[in-house]
Amino acid sequence: MSASALVTGVTPDLDLDIELKAFDETKAGVKGLLDSNISTIPRIFIDPLDDYPLLSSSRQAKDGAVVPVIDFSDVGSRRRKEMVAQVRDASEKWGVFQVVNHGIPVTTLKEMISGALKFHESPTEEKQQFYSRDLNKKVGFASTFDLYSRKRANWRDTFRCHMAPEPPSPHEFPSFLREIVPEYSKCVAELGETIAKILAEALGLPLNYFINMEWLKTQSIGMHYYPACPQPELTQGATKHTDPYFLTILLQDHIGGLQVLHGGNWVEVTPIHGALIVNIGDFLQLMTNGRFLSVQHRVLASHAGPRVSVPCFFMAGTEPVRKYGPIKELLSEGDTPRYKEVTIAEYYMYHRNKGLNGTSNLDDFKVEGLIELSRRDHLGIKQLPET
Ligand code: OGA
Ligand code: NI
Repeated sequence: MSASALVTGVTPDLDLDIELKAFDETKAGVKGLLDSNISTIPRIFIDPLDDYPLLSSSRQAKDGAVVPVIDFSDVGSRRRKEMVAQVRDASEKWGVFQVVNHGIPVTTLKEMISGALKFHESPTEEKQQFYSRDLNKKVGFASTFDLYSRKRANWRDTFRCHMAPEPPSPHEFPSFLREIVPEYSKCVAELGETIAKILAEALGLPLNYFINMEWLKTQSIGMHYYPACPQPELTQGATKHTDPYFLTILLQDHIGGLQVLHGGNWVEVTPIHGALIVNIGDFLQLMTNGRFLSVQHRVLASHAGPRVSVPCFFMAGTEPVRKYGPIKELLSEGDTPRYKEVTIAEYYMYHRNKGLNGTSNLDDFKVEGLIELSRRDHLGIKQLPET
């Protein structure tokens, strides 16, 4: 089926599933759709559950605060204490911060962005060879990972690759990504290690606590492409969500559009040349018993674009049966664990089945907030941790 089979505007009598499938089967993503010269967006991109028109957004929170920017220069010096305190504060109050002077050369960041851009602007036939919705494949291109579970599409395409523990072999990448992706992956892994130590220190844990838990061992890199959108008020680049992993380090270009929910307001993560964005994921919120926040975030669609971003997700150790729960050492007397223990496999399966529907996955793993059986069935979830 071709992109022209897609219906534009709101036509309630047509089956949405057929339209989603038609879009998927073009294997051309949103960019392919746009290349077919549409001026209105198909209804599969319009999500009635999106609340963004109802909420204001701005550069600042109500109290005038902006997403914290932390300078990582001289991380081993006397400044370290101050840096650790800033990371602690940002992780507790925001769940996100920007890092400058992190040590990754600006040329590497630029090459990574241009490589991602080049991929998405390659001829459709070349991208189609990579098209796959199987998230377990080492390398894959697709639009909207939760297309069928959420029954809506986001205004973005993604090329992703699992870089650790076992990277894909070079010939699995397009030639122009063969050098830059492993190079960027190595740099960001080193930065991940630095941040893992700072986070442990901020919590009063041994420096290598998170490193020994192996949560830097699995690394997945996404290359998102958010095309300019003819009707940005009707759709979103990424629906509001939290990242289901431990930690995300995100590189964004100069366009903007990423926002975080803070104190009931959407606050922009303003692009800063050479900076990287760090956000806490669900597993870190779970392990810190809610002390560090897995921040809700979203990406607006815009007339400006394309926008390119490159998230690096640090996902887990390589042992699928290991259970993670609130860290005992962090529970002071009288403090009870707020979350159940869960394995990575169980949590990710839950995330993938649920998709980005705007609610936090973690809510369903709260000790007091057990998910009702009917909802479990609806989501197709077979395994949940016992209470
Ligand atoms: C993500 C994400 C934000 C962005 O990939 O999980 O939130 O700016 N990306 O692309
Ligand atoms: Ni995210």
